Amino acid sequence: MDKQKITFTLNHVRREEYIDPRASLSEVLRDQMELTSVKHGCNVGECGACTVLVDGEPFNSCIYLAIWVDGKDVLTLEGLTDIDGKISDIQQAFIDEGAVQCGFCTPGFIMSSLPIIESEKTFSREEIRKQISGNFCRCTGYETIVNAIEKTAKARKSGK
Ligand code: FES
Ligand code: FES
Repeated sequence: MDKQKITFTLNHVRREEYIDPRASLSEVLRDQMELTSVKHGCNVGECGACTVLVDGEPFNSCIYLAIWVDGKDVLTLEGLTDIDGKISDIQQAFIDEGAVQCGFCTPGFIMSSLPIIESEKTFSREEIRKQISGNFCRCTGYETIVNAIEKTAKARKSGK
């Protein structure tokens, strides 16, 4: 099948890419554009390992056609580091709280947590759990993941 051109913003940079119109967003991001934070987990929208933000909202990129991001804004974990390669507060919190075991699920959890930590609303631990309920950790470190998200949200609100 002929490739089709899409134009979109990826990690703050305008990009043009020729893609197979049948390809999923995770295939294009990981296999074609080498953004390896985007994990191929279940590939059927069940585990959240492939989560990226599209126009600020988390989506399972394995069940989202790449062609749909034409004209949109896509953010992956790679887009969270600053210009000097310094990691973001939420990434540091995952390290500090011991919320990373094998690490396979971690990029997806962090991407799902962004709307929580960027919201003006204060989420309870129960609400945080609900918001990240589409992400599975096979190493089952959920307490520490919630700790990292809660800590980052609080720090941002207090301006630390
Ligand atoms: S790999 Fe996409 S939801 Fe599991
Ligand atoms: S840290 Fe291993 S799957 Fe979550």
